[in-house]
Amino acid sequence: MILRKQFLEHVGQTSPSPMMVEVERAEGSFFYTPEGKRYFDLVAGVSVSNVGHANPDVVRAVQEQAAKYMHVMVYGEMVERPQVEYARRIAELLPGNLDCVYFVNSGAEAVEVALKLAKRYTGRTELISMRRAYHGSTHGAMSMMGTPEGEEWKSEFRPLLPDVKSIEFNSFEDLQQITQRTAGVLCEVVQGEAGVRLPNPEWLRALRARCSEVGALLIFDEIQTGMGRTGKMFASTKYGVTPDVVCLAKAFGGGMPLGGVAANREVLYSFTNNPCLGHITTFGGHPVCCAAGLAALNYLINNNIVDSVERKGELFEEHLKHHPRILEIRRSGLLLALELGKPEYLYRLMEIFKEEGIMSDWFLYCDTAFRISPPLTISESEIEECCEIITRSLDRL
Ligand SMILES: Cc1ncc(COP(=O)(O)O)c(C=O)c1O
Repeated sequence: MILRKQFLEHVGQTSPSPMMVEVERAEGSFFYTPEGKRYFDLVAGVSVSNVGHANPDVVRAVQEQAAKYMHVMVYGEMVERPQVEYARRIAELLPGNLDCVYFVNSGAEAVEVALKLAKRYTGRTELISMRRAYHGSTHGAMSMMGTPEGEEWKSEFRPLLPDVKSIEFNSFEDLQQITQRTAGVLCEVVQGEAGVRLPNPEWLRALRARCSEVGALLIFDEIQTGMGRTGKMFASTKYGVTPDVVCLAKAFGGGMPLGGVAANREVLYSFTNNPCLGHITTFGGHPVCCAAGLAALNYLINNNIVDSVERKGELFEEHLKHHPRILEIRRSGLLLALELGKPEYLYRLMEIFKEEGIMSDWFLYCDTAFRISPPLTISESEIEECCEIITRSLDRL
């Protein structure tokens, strides 16, 4: 109790109603309170803990790297093995000619870098995002929250970036608004915080074609969809469309804070001149974070985790889709939104979940659906057990 009181008194908050669940430890698909209560983690730190909590390979990599060296110099001056090896592996796995990674600290910073890169590389200023997009909370990333939905979140922070506009996700007609004035178009491959909105693959291809036609950089925000979440290592490969720039974060750090911007070397190297040091970061690409990210990536690959994602997502769907409270399930891999139709139901369900030992959440732009995005390592028997608890909770609604 004392810790929870001090949490509210001394730890800065922006949520008016934090979940207030105290974590003692976390392992695999679960975390535990000091009283020993177990929670199924269906949030995974918002698509972060893809390899499960306290993954032994990641823990070992962190310990070993921390014992060798931690921070030595600002980003990019020294040759650090964890950065080099991780960048090389990511470049091998990314589609097309995306062969170079600039490391940063977070998703929002990756987005900032991508926006600056689009301006710097094209010499243009206009930036386009999608309606109901979420790209982070810094000024630049916040500017890219599509209007009008994003307006509620950003109006009190104006003025934000000028020369920004938003178009409708999946609208062929709106692609005409991308012109030779446009520096970059920023797009989540699957819109996460909109409540899991899937792309029309034909539209993604048309978006790619339109950006190429007018010379604008196509930037995919794979911060939530990357590292296996949608059933392929990257959602861009799932939907068969290669962007010019990819933003990565969340699971990219294997549970440690890490972001990255991948692009072709020629594009990224425009940051090295006129002016040089086009983006600077002290901690970006921290060796311990890169070692953790690389260990997590190797774990995903060596244990064929990504190949199991689609089946696991289907299992959740099969078990839950017939419940009368579930109006719709939107899903890409293990990123699911279960639609209840009314915020009152959602708020009540979150209370019931808390009692029943389920950790879920809603979405920034969608407070009528709950989230299922567990660690990708969740087992089929854990999914069965979890769906029984969810069904029991829905029955109580
Ligand atoms: C699609 C997407 N982009 C960017 C971000 C921002 O990432 P961060 O919180 O690391 O700044 C998020 C965070 O939820 C996200 O879901």
